[in-house]
Amino acid sequence: MSLSIGIDAIALGVPRGYVQLTDLAEARGVPPEKYRDGLGVEQMAVAAADEDAVALAANAARRALSVSRTKPADIGLCIVGTETAVDHSKPVAAFLHGLAGLPPSCRVFETKHACFGGTAGLLNAIDWIASGSARGRAAMVICTDIARYQLRSAAEPTQGAGAVAMIVRESPRLLAFDVGRNGSYSRDVHDFWRPLHAKEGIVDGHFSVDCYLAALEGAYREWLSLQTAKDEAPVRACYHVPYGKMSRKAHRHRKQIDGLTKEQADASFESEVGSSLILPNKIGNAYTASLYLSLASLLHHEATDIERKRITLFSYGSGCVAEFFSGRVVEGAAAWARELRIDEPLNDRTRLTVEQYERVRGLDTQADPRFPDGQPKPVLNGGRVKFLGVDSGE
Ligand code: CAA
Repeated sequence: MSLSIGIDAIALGVPRGYVQLTDLAEARGVPPEKYRDGLGVEQMAVAAADEDAVALAANAARRALSVSRTKPADIGLCIVGTETAVDHSKPVAAFLHGLAGLPPSCRVFETKHACFGGTAGLLNAIDWIASGSARGRAAMVICTDIARYQLRSAAEPTQGAGAVAMIVRESPRLLAFDVGRNGSYSRDVHDFWRPLHAKEGIVDGHFSVDCYLAALEGAYREWLSLQTAKDEAPVRACYHVPYGKMSRKAHRHRKQIDGLTKEQADASFESEVGSSLILPNKIGNAYTASLYLSLASLLHHEATDIERKRITLFSYGSGCVAEFFSGRVVEGAAAWARELRIDEPLNDRTRLTVEQYERVRGLDTQADPRFPDGQPKPVLNGGRVKFLGVDSGE
């Protein structure tokens, strides 16, 4: 009998502050409809200087363990996917090993391929379980990122930040994957990158949209070729969401490959994709975490309607690599998702003015003196993990 492997629990770690994008549109002299309808964005989370990729990841990981009542000792593998790593050598996962109280027998490492890093971690965790290496233990996969572009650039309204932690195990209570039936696609392109010295991403925006769609097509066609007549049609789709409109473009493109017209494709968007965008619209782009924020949103808002049904996921990482994959929402997932209180971390946020956001960005850019030889100091402070600077040992 083949194993059922998938996501057992999911939890978020989000910054305390966010910007309402109508405020940003006004400050930048852009018609608000361009952001709302043209890009399909509403709010973007803004990470403060004490909310680095480690702190966001640690808050998501600690929450995933506590809401699912998973003992840290049961975790045998911890992978962090990120493109906002804090060190070229020491992985974010090593910090998490301490902050989440994981056991010495746990394998920890970091994965990078732009926004695909979290998916690379998830696929690795699935294979680790399928191979028998897990020996009954669970994996924790955490996606954590801060999306920063230059102030006043066209990409500015597509920023965001956040982390998603997932417990991956046999007999999962949320989503069981169709293991071994993924469609993959890769190509060497220069659509988005971040040089080693830079905190802000550089993007060839319109080209990146073309690359995303080409990758979707390649991965989707391979996934389609692995379907059989017995497979039920999926009822919902989660996409990597750099901004809401991109999921609309992706969904349209995919449905046109199925032979639908543009109008038919768009008509299915709200029912098949709508609920997966509710949380991403409050956070913005969280790179590696974006697809899993979309999945969290779907499970939080709609699990009751889709228990025992198939859904699809599309992950895109610039540069580029992509994966189109699928799974079945587990019976009982709705009640379990309610217990996980997935959206709770979003209840305690503050709306920032554009001036406050710009000040945060200024501090954030100056916060780089971590690079001298000291040790970064993430600390547990008032129930949250915060980055409090570098201990130079003086
Ligand atoms: N009212 C309504 N709509 C308006 C409008 C108005 N007043 N003014 C413009 N629009 C519409 C445009 O018609 C356009 O719609 P379509 O996309 O349907 O053609 C849309 O708003 C965007 O406007 P522009 O084409 O003028 O685009 P822009 O120069 O503002 O840049 C962007 C948009 C390229 C997405 C830019 O925000 C960007 O570079 N973002 C970062 C890159 C990115 O997210 N790429 C996505 C794929 S790569 C990826 O997924 C990896 C990742 O996470 C980064």
